[in-house]
Amino acid sequence: MATAPEVRWGILGTGNIATRFAAEMAGAEGARLVAVASRSESKATAFADRFGLPTAYGRYESLAASPDIDIVYVATPHLFHYEHAGLVLAHDKAVLVEKPFVMNAREGEALVAEARQRGLLLMDGLWTLCNPLFLDLVAKVRSGAIGRPRGFSANVGPLGVPIAKGTGMRLEDPDVGGSFLIECHVYPVAIMLALAPVFSQPEDVWAAATFTDRHVDEMASILLRTQTGEVGAIDGGLAWSTRNSVVSRARLTGATGWIEIDDDLFNPRRALVGSMAGTEALESSAADRGFAWEIEEAGRAFRAGEVESPLVPHRLSLDVIRLLDRARASAGITVGG
Ligand SMILES: NC(=O)c1ccc[n+]([C@@H]2O[C@H](COP(=O)([O-])OP(=O)(O)OC[C@H]3O[C@@H](n4cnc5c(N)ncnc54)[C@H](OP(=O)(O)O)[C@@H]3O)[C@@H](O)[C@H]2O)c1
Repeated sequence: MATAPEVRWGILGTGNIATRFAAEMAGAEGARLVAVASRSESKATAFADRFGLPTAYGRYESLAASPDIDIVYVATPHLFHYEHAGLVLAHDKAVLVEKPFVMNAREGEALVAEARQRGLLLMDGLWTLCNPLFLDLVAKVRSGAIGRPRGFSANVGPLGVPIAKGTGMRLEDPDVGGSFLIECHVYPVAIMLALAPVFSQPEDVWAAATFTDRHVDEMASILLRTQTGEVGAIDGGLAWSTRNSVVSRARLTGATGWIEIDDDLFNPRRALVGSMAGTEALESSAADRGFAWEIEEAGRAFRAGEVESPLVPHRLSLDVIRLLDRARASAGITVGG
């Protein structure tokens, strides 16, 4: 049987997550990284040398315009996702945009409309939703294993890594979209909506945050209630970031059971499913290939000519960002409009 041609990827930006993504590309089926772009020629060349890439561009636009690329992965800070994803779409190219997809629903709706009008793949980089263990949990909930979903709770540290508060890092910098709520709570909100769509447009959303001197929320809590009486509670902050003390976890409680991700919310390796019949533990076969699953799904959707991935549909991306918009308004978080 003939194998499908490899999807040719380009990376826009050369930071922390771009580096991790490039490293995992090697383990992804049907994908080949062929180019990188930076605002600086020398950074692009250093990145290309490190990963053995044939092409390095000193301008983002050159990558977007390249005829040798199928999909561009946007790995810049989220304040610029709208601009950079828009640049790629304007050159009639498919795009995978790191999470959080955009800063607000207005930007998200405009990007989705542009991609649909041009017939191009636009995918939100919520890699968790492509993790097979997470997909098993979605299937369990859909099959009625825990009954009707009634409550969701999550507790989040920033990406599970120790980050010293007050170090001037990106997450605390309003000039690049710094906001704990936008950057980190995008995960539990997306997980909640993917597992239990009943939470998609809650009747009430309340939120509270504590702020740095530069008015960046460093801790934030969200409470919500649906019209039919389901409730959700999400909290977390920079102070809770220490690995081995507080991990990021989520629990969905149903009428007859519950599921819990208790080790790593972002790229789950283990989960529990409980019911009157007992507790079942689910384990991931290969949690270290989190980005590879996302790369393979984006490649599959691209080859199939889809404008959205069914694992991360536009409707879900927009519902997530609309819910975050409401939480931001409630908490007084103003970064990003
Ligand atoms: N999926 C995940 O697990 C995960 C984890 C961490 C972060 N993220 C997301 O990935 C995105 C990037 O995060 P990161 O940690 O990789 O950030 P980072 O290390 O600061 O890198 C961002 C890159 O964006 C480019 N850039 C363009 N305009 C910039 C500006 N005005 N200021 C700073 N950099 C600019 C820079 O590349 P050049 O200088 O080469 O142009 C920079 O290296 C964020 O949206 C974040 O939420 C996702």
